[in-house]
Order: sequence, then C-alpha cells, then structure tokens
Amino acid sequence: MASLNQRVPSYLKAIAPYQPGKPIADIARAYGFQEDQVVKLASNENPLGMSPKGREAMLEAAADLGRYPDGNGFALKQALSKKFGLDPATITLGNGSNDILELVAHAFLAPGKESLMSDHSFAVYALASQAVGATIVSVPAKPDDLGHDLQGFKQRITEKTSVVWIANPNNPTGSFISAAELEAFIAELPATVLVVLDEAYTEYLSEQDSYPAFEWARRYPNLLVSRSFSKAYGLAGLRVGYGVASAEVTDLLNRVRQPFNVNSLALAAASASLFDDEFLTRSAALNRQGMEQIQKGIQALGVGWLESWGNFLLIDLRAVQPDQPQAGQKVYEALLSKGVITRPVANYGLAGFLRVSIGTFDENQSFLKAMPFALEMLRGSTDSGSSLAPASSTASVSSKTAAVRA
Ligand SMILES: Cc1ncc(COP(=O)(O)O)c(C=O)c1O
Repeated sequence: MASLNQRVPSYLKAIAPYQPGKPIADIARAYGFQEDQVVKLASNENPLGMSPKGREAMLEAAADLGRYPDGNGFALKQALSKKFGLDPATITLGNGSNDILELVAHAFLAPGKESLMSDHSFAVYALASQAVGATIVSVPAKPDDLGHDLQGFKQRITEKTSVVWIANPNNPTGSFISAAELEAFIAELPATVLVVLDEAYTEYLSEQDSYPAFEWARRYPNLLVSRSFSKAYGLAGLRVGYGVASAEVTDLLNRVRQPFNVNSLALAAASASLFDDEFLTRSAALNRQGMEQIQKGIQALGVGWLESWGNFLLIDLRAVQPDQPQAGQKVYEALLSKGVITRPVANYGLAGFLRVSIGTFDENQSFLKAMPFALEMLRGSTDSGSSLAPASSTASVSSKTAAVRA
C-alpha cells in the first residue's frame, strides 16, 4: 500500500538522530535523585553559567519579547566587528553555531557532492550532509591523537568535494592542529572547495596556540570560520553562534537562513557577553585548573586519556577491561547510577572511550569520587555483562539501581 514513507528520500531515512547529553532532570527522575544531587559533565557547557553582563542584557531584552528579533542582528554584528575588526557583510549569525553548519550544508551540498570529514569529528557534519543527500567521505584519524589527518584529507579531494569540515580543537577527541599545518592545508585546497573551520572551543586555547583565523577568512575566499557562544561564553541554552567568511559565501548562507533565526534574548546576551573579558578569562582559568584536577585524578586510578585543547577530556578505557568492547557505555552507566552524567562516544566510533566535560572543582570531584566504582563495574563486566541502567528511562528508582546506590 502506498504510504508517505515512500516519498521520503532514502538518505533521510538513513539518518541516525543526534544523541545529546542526558538532561539532569531525566537522570534525577530515572535514578531517584534530587536534581541538585546530579552532576552533568556531558555537553561541554560552561560550569560558571553565563556572564553577568550577558544576563543583565538578556533580562533587559526580555521586556520586549512581543516583537520579532532584529532579523539581521545589527547590534551583534556591530559588536563582533568592534571586537574582531570584521566587516559586518562577512558575518552570518546562527541559532547556535550548529545552525551555521546546517546553512553551509544547505548552500553548498546536494546529492552527488562529497562532504569530507575526519572519522571522529563532530556528529553534526555528517548529519547536516546526510540531510541534503551529499556523500560523506570519512578520513581515517591519525593513530596517535585520533585527530584530523590533513595529508589523508588531501588524498581524498576529488572533483565532487564541495565541503571540508575541520574542528580545531576537535570534539570529541580534544585534538588540535597547529596554525602552520592548518594554514598550509587551507592554502593548497582548490578554490571550489569550501573549508569550514569550526572553532567552537577556540576561547580555551592558550595565547601560544591561538592563530588569526579571521585574517585567514579575509585571505582565503573559500574559508568559513564558525564560532559559538555556547562554550566559554556560557550561552548554550540561548542558542547563538556565528560564521565569518567572504561576502560572497555570507550572501549565499543568508539566502537559506530563516528570517529570524536568532532570538532577541540570545542577540542581547551575546552582544554584551562579547565584552565581558573578566568572565572569559575566569572561564578559561577554571577550565585549565579542572583539566589538571581530572587528569591527576584519573592518572591516580591508572587510566589514560588523550591530550585535550577543549573543555572536555576523552578518557581511554581500552586497557582497563580489554574483553569489554563497550567500555565507554559501561562506565557511563555506572557513573549515572552515582548521579554523574558523562558522554559515551560509541556513536563516534569510540566505544572504548568516555568523554567528560570539565566542571567546577566540586563537580570534578564528584566525577572522580564515582570513578573507582565505575572502573570496578567495568573490570567485572564482559561483552554480555549486566547493565546498570534503569529498565526504562522514565522509571523511578529501579531495584537494580537502588541496590547499587545503597
Ligand atoms: C565542535 C563543535 N562544533 C559545534 C558545536 C555546536 O555548538 P552550538 O550549536 O551550541 O554553538 C559543538 C557543540 O558541542 C561542537 O562540539
């Protein structure tokens, strides 16, 4: 019998939806915790919340929510121009930087075009490419840091390559490509290939590692730099990010953008947060301290990790229980039963790893305190080992989890 389903392109049916970090309320409900007993280190958010200046501006903007936002985001583009010396005609604002990635896919990809990315890179590159029917070409990661192999990228460029996605630092590996290597790669690419340089975590880089990406965007007309207000600026819940590229690329993105894609609260908060240097410095410093705290803590437990330039760490569990191919999921479930939410990354092809975001000192301590139990569970598990997850995500305390917590 005919059905609507038959009309849906097969490339859409093949999409496996994005798996976000579990919300605190879900885990509190499922495991019988109070919400304030649950620690979330799952989505690379800023543990300090949002900047006070951003909050103040947002509350002021809340007085006028009966009106549509400024669809061109004049004030935020002015603020970005002032801070970074950018021409407003080269800025695209997005509902999160995620939106910028989607706009790129809509404008530059289609069935028959190739979208080039690293094996373990941010999930949205593949999702946005698949949603428009492009062919994904995934480049094997470098064995040492599991990051982008730019030589491998070069070898896979074809006539059909339309977009190359590079996150620097990369999520979930935390890996980083040096400025010299990155610029040499961009400079050599054919002018017909758009490079998306995703800098969602750039504010966490040391001065020594930082590089002038916006200057590159002026020099290379086929480069788009995307940035986020969700991480160091602490505005994840408001959804705002931006892209910087040539006026030609910006014009194309504008054609596929929704008229009011960034809401008024986000516009106001982002404009003010940009100039809250004290908050940015404090956020980066807390991240550095937390990174060291977590590394020391897991080192003491005999567990390894990949060096990270972001606000998260990819923990390598492969050696803990070699007979357990789903090590990340097992440790994730055990930590959930202790009220700590982290991120399993099997969907990134990294089933032997677990990603943990850097939190406040106390949040990091909660994670470290729960880790010995989680590792014990992992050591005791094999491929068919029992799961600590509650029977249903909406169940109250299951007898299994109650026993574990007791
Ligand atoms: C590498 C990378 N790019 C982009 C994003 C999207 O961030 P947002 O849409 O919140 O700006 C994320 C979020 O985790 C990310 O890790």
